[in-house]
Amino acid sequence: MNMLSNFSLFSTARVLVVEDALTLVTQYRIHLQTLGVASPVVASDVAEALTQLDLGPWDLALIDIGLPDGSGFEVMQRLLARWPECAVVVISGLESMDLAVQAAHAGALDFLQKPFQPERLIITLRNALQTASMSRQLKGWTTQKSDRFYGFIGRSEVMQSIYLTIQTIAKSHAPVFVYGESGAGKELAADAIHQTSERAQRPFVPVNCASIPLDLIESELFGHVRGAFTGAHADRDGAFVLADGGTLFLDEIAELDIQVQAKLLRVLQTGELRRLGDSRTKIVNVRVVCASHRDLHACVRNGTFREDLFYRLHVIPLTLPPLRERGQDILLLAHHFLKLYAKQEGKQLEGFTPEAQSVLLRHPWPGNVRELINTVRAVVALNSGDLVDLAMLPSRVKNEIDWATANPANKVSENDIRITPLAELERLEISRALNYFNKNILNASQALGIHPSTLHRKLKSMNFDSNRI
Ligand SMILES: Nc1ncnc2c1ncn2[C@@H]1O[C@H](COP(=O)(O)OP(=O)(O)OP(=O)(O)O)[C@@H](O)[C@H]1O
Ligand SMILES: [Mg+2]
Repeated sequence: MNMLSNFSLFSTARVLVVEDALTLVTQYRIHLQTLGVASPVVASDVAEALTQLDLGPWDLALIDIGLPDGSGFEVMQRLLARWPECAVVVISGLESMDLAVQAAHAGALDFLQKPFQPERLIITLRNALQTASMSRQLKGWTTQKSDRFYGFIGRSEVMQSIYLTIQTIAKSHAPVFVYGESGAGKELAADAIHQTSERAQRPFVPVNCASIPLDLIESELFGHVRGAFTGAHADRDGAFVLADGGTLFLDEIAELDIQVQAKLLRVLQTGELRRLGDSRTKIVNVRVVCASHRDLHACVRNGTFREDLFYRLHVIPLTLPPLRERGQDILLLAHHFLKLYAKQEGKQLEGFTPEAQSVLLRHPWPGNVRELINTVRAVVALNSGDLVDLAMLPSRVKNEIDWATANPANKVSENDIRITPLAELERLEISRALNYFNKNILNASQALGIHPSTLHRKLKSMNFDSNRI
């Protein structure tokens, strides 16, 4: 995001700083000013902070945990009780880490551990201000709820706030990091970000970092010139050049090789890239959107992802809720895809019986929207009639219902129940799917409701012996 848009976005933000170290207060003032916040209110201990609280509403509070007359934790609790929408960043020394974690659980948005780099501080402040400004907009948002937003279908509150967030961040050029379970719509979100932005007329280029072999990924991203390596028969532009002026979607970014991460960081820092084997550089203007099903913080901690790259990419996080948390959206989606596939297949199916609906609402949908789509598609292909009833739903979806209510004979005493570890169930189900589809990864992954690259990764991490499937 450029400075100008920061100024207009954050200039009205009301910021409270609770910190006793003067040098840090000065640092916060300077960085907040750079982001457009004119004058934060400063309190240097708990007592002063508590008297300032009432002067809110506050959009953002930076609270040090170790204060001379008590803990910043208390300030944070009182602040959030009074101003629940305030974004809180807690700051702690090593000795107060436990409290900082507690604060995060109690609703703090982020925490900074002293000592920290200025770059980390700026990113934290910018994210917090952005969140605060979005929750302000959300509060004042009175327009009609929409069932659709670009490729998305869904009218739940959680999805409304996703639509709003996408609209808000589309105006910025900052990188977006999309989180979400498999099949939750991460690629759809990246596409919607592109479509809503002023880059919409330029290309949207998706690259799946998990599915491209290591020796090809560099050339895929940055391109190569003829003769750069064996097999490079002609010059080729990479995804960065293809996406020039538009949006580059780096899917499964956590899987990117560490050497390639260094190159990517350089391109993002300088905006310049060099094709493999080329001596010239080229300037590109690309907005990057990334996604991963992994917790990237954990990848940074265990050393598989560069921290500097993480902070460069992790400017605006966007987390898609799992389908099971979207309530009636499940039925909205099921109806939509039922109609679509029934039309395609020339069938009459036009709805679900009440029992079938309650099964759909209770299923946890581990494969999210993709699993729902595939389930409906299979139901349409295999059945006819007006309504989809319980018998037409696959047992995978009905399982919990069959077990608990529909089939009392299945009830066993508590002592008889052998609980299977989820990992074992997953392994078993993957092995069944591969067996059934003759080891065809594409078909098996579709049936499992996951992306083929996700299945590849799982097989790798499980050390699957394909001869034993
Ligand atoms: N809210 C939605 N409304 C309609 N279709 C959706 C919705 N969310 C996802 N889909 C569809 O579900 C499928 C999976 O979505 P998508 O590929 O974006 O998920 P993903 O999070 O990127 O999955 P993966 O982690 O496996 O890469 C796609 O066909 C997409 O069009
Ligand atoms: Mg995806």
